Amino acid sequence: MNIEKTTLLYFSPTSTTRIILEEIARGMGKEALAVIDITKPEMRTQPAPEFGNDLVLMGAPVYGGRLPKDAAEYFKTVRASGSLAVLVVLYGNREFEDALLELKDIAVADGFSPLAAGAFIGEHSFSNNEFLIAANRPDEDDLEKAFSFGKQIARLLDHVQTLTDFSCVDVPGNFPYKDGMSMGPFSFIEITDDCDNCGICVTACPENAIDETRTYSTLEDLCIYCCACIKACPQQARILKDGPIKDKAKWLFETCARRKEPQIFLAEN
Ligand SMILES: Cc1cc2nc3c(=O)[nH]c(=O)nc-3n(C[C@H](O)[C@H](O)[C@H](O)COP(=O)(O)O)c2cc1C
Ligand code: SF4
Ligand code: SF4
Repeated sequence: MNIEKTTLLYFSPTSTTRIILEEIARGMGKEALAVIDITKPEMRTQPAPEFGNDLVLMGAPVYGGRLPKDAAEYFKTVRASGSLAVLVVLYGNREFEDALLELKDIAVADGFSPLAAGAFIGEHSFSNNEFLIAANRPDEDDLEKAFSFGKQIARLLDHVQTLTDFSCVDVPGNFPYKDGMSMGPFSFIEITDDCDNCGICVTACPENAIDETRTYSTLEDLCIYCCACIKACPQQARILKDGPIKDKAKWLFETCARRKEPQIFLAEN
């Protein structure tokens, strides 16, 4: 099928979704791509794109077995006509539950024909020095799997002349979806004296939830607990306080230690 443009469209506070999408695209032999990174809050206020004879690799992390609300809301505003989609979720070695189905349902409602989908594993946002959860993933093995998934998609595309040549990819998940996360607002980040006021956490935050005028403290009403600021801080000056997120990290460390592997799904042709 003749595709005019391939676009990466993603929300990825701690970059694991972005890394996997880029590797899938490399495997497809698509290195010169358009990129729409909706992690930055200012990107989500731009009008959503309209796709035509395009292929879009769309990805987001799993939050509480669902898509992050901001990502889902933005994805719902995208319009597509005669466009193919590859759908990807990244999860922190617990479960991805209904997130991939939710992404597929949104993509179909937008007008996409989903050709392939994958659930990959990324270091859990709550992973920290004390409680490592899927630390350093995606690792080399995950990247190889993403690359090979890209090659499989490219081979499938060679056999697709029109959108009627394949049936939409099947993905696991249940509808009605499980309830999304209901947390907080609560304070879970402590800022230590090691902070040197560099401002990197402000740039890393997808929600404008860090107040640089108040010693880089977190605006709890806006925070989505993504931990991007903690991971981006070069001084390791942002640390998890004792409380629900740290307790969850301990629980994940104790109960989700067994390594999970990426799962991929391809449309039948
Ligand atoms: C609020 C929140 C909820 C999460 N819920 C889940 C979950 O339900 N299952 C899971 O395995 N990982 C969960 N994670 C971990 C992320 O899905 C995982 O770290 C992912 O790789 C992050 O993607 P990113 O690097 O693109 O931001 C959650 C993370 C956060 C911040
Ligand atoms: S990134 Fe770390 S050191 Fe820099 S301002 Fe934020 S908390 Fe301080
Ligand atoms: S302040 Fe909250 S939303 Fe912003 S990066 Fe930190 S954890 Fe994420």
